[in-house]
Amino acid sequence: MHRFIFAIAYICFLISRGYAVTVPPPSQDSWYRQPSDIGRYSPGDVIRSRHVAPQLESFLSFPANVSVKSVTQYLFRTTDNLRTPVASVATLIEPFRADSSKLLGYQTFYDSASVDCSPSYTLQAKNDDPEFAMRNLNLSVDIAFMASALNLGWWVLTTDYEGLNAEYTVGIQSGNAVLDSVRAVLRYGPEEGLSENPRYALWGYSGGALASSWAAEVQPAYAPELDFAGVALGGLTPNVSSVFNTIHNGVYAGLAFRGIYGMAKAYPNLTQWMEQELLPLKSEDFFAIAGGCNGDGTSQDLYSFFKNGEASFKKAIPQAVFRWSGQMGIHGTPTAPLFIYKATSDEISPVADTEFLVKQYCSRGVDVEYHRDLVGNHETEAITGSASALEWLYDRLDGNAVVEGCHTEDVVLTSLHVRTAALLGEVIFSILQSTVGGML
Ligand SMILES: *[C@@H]1O[C@H](CO)[C@@H](O)[C@H](O)[C@H]1NC(C)=O
Ligand SMILES: *[C@@H]1O[C@H](CO)[C@@H](O)[C@H](O)[C@H]1NC(C)=O
Ligand SMILES: *[C@@H]1O[C@H](CO)[C@@H](O)[C@H](O)[C@H]1NC(C)=O
Ligand SMILES: *[C@@H]1O[C@H](CO)[C@@H](O)[C@H](O)[C@H]1NC(C)=O
Repeated sequence: MHRFIFAIAYICFLISRGYAVTVPPPSQDSWYRQPSDIGRYSPGDVIRSRHVAPQLESFLSFPANVSVKSVTQYLFRTTDNLRTPVASVATLIEPFRADSSKLLGYQTFYDSASVDCSPSYTLQAKNDDPEFAMRNLNLSVDIAFMASALNLGWWVLTTDYEGLNAEYTVGIQSGNAVLDSVRAVLRYGPEEGLSENPRYALWGYSGGALASSWAAEVQPAYAPELDFAGVALGGLTPNVSSVFNTIHNGVYAGLAFRGIYGMAKAYPNLTQWMEQELLPLKSEDFFAIAGGCNGDGTSQDLYSFFKNGEASFKKAIPQAVFRWSGQMGIHGTPTAPLFIYKATSDEISPVADTEFLVKQYCSRGVDVEYHRDLVGNHETEAITGSASALEWLYDRLDGNAVVEGCHTEDVVLTSLHVRTAALLGEVIFSILQSTVGGML
């Protein structure tokens, strides 16, 4: 009895100190285990669910108050890129004073080929090193925008879209998982208080946009019953081949290591290619870098780990996989209206690839509002562009119709509307503003 009371007191102490109760990482948590009869479930079926403590460490360590009332997690069935049934995890967050008719599916840029970097875990875990944070910005941008959405009273869903196998950069897997997480939450969310018939939208930047845009593309064929009020996509990477060309060395090279590893895990022939092409003496180093979380950088050149350098990447197998699994615009036509934002000098994915994608969508009748930011780069756009995206999503979740057709706008930072500050909330606005050196 004494020990029991002590345990309770200790947990209360931990909570009052603002520390989340220690949670095991997914690789060591049996809750994440995929059942052997996964094939008997239909896409979007919930295999199991659980409530986790609403004291999410990522929000507690964020320097603003974030409204979180309850958190539910679902292990649900989805379909990977080879059409195999697999499981994945979704986290549904209910704010205080929630508007039960509004649901935002926010995909984080967790950009990792390790399941232990999945948001269902990193949101809860105590992270002294901010794995979610963007390089050089002492702030998790994903956390700031999820916080704003929660403080607006929206339900927020965030999905481990790479699946339990952490298949980073694999488009179809990511898109399917996002769609099935929405299916799961539309079915089971009402038990938690979500409306039976909410308006819902998707949002993501960079890796989060990869998942969201593939979801928008495969939705008509894979989940035709879903009806998104809108999809906001920032810092898009429509062509992974050209991203590899751009970032195989330099400050973003870590993304390239994790990307090729994530993709190899999804394609047996690419795994074989990697086994043949990796330099045996460097393979241990390769996997050490490729297995990291976002934020773990490297200054090495990805191509220098392969026997034939860049030529290894020009072989038939990687080229075939990249053309199919790393190219947006060829797997379907989104039915949802889109808000696309991109800095013209983005240093990860050349703006020309995004322009090409926007043209393709427009020629096929998609409603697109495209903001081409003439100032800033991949990191600053994550803040300045996302602030406008929040405003666009606010209108979509309010039920306001989009302006039909395609509209391209060249924007500079000053074109930010006054209303945006109010939507972000004063505290979050000023945190973001100081992060980008007053550019907001
Ligand atoms: C959070 O809310 C509390 C209680 O309303 C308030 O005292 C505190 O100043 C707020 N903190 C921030 C960073 O806004
Ligand atoms: C981030 O934090 C470190 C250490 O606190 C500091 O030296 C650095 O200037 C900060 N960077 C930015 C962009 O604020
Ligand atoms: C994707 O990028 C590669 C490498 O730059 C290029 O060869 C290919 O044509 C691009 N594909 C499309 C559809 O733009
Ligand atoms: C590699 O495997 C994928 C998926 O099975 C297939 O689409 C692709 O054509 C294969 N590539 C080559 C060059 O065999």
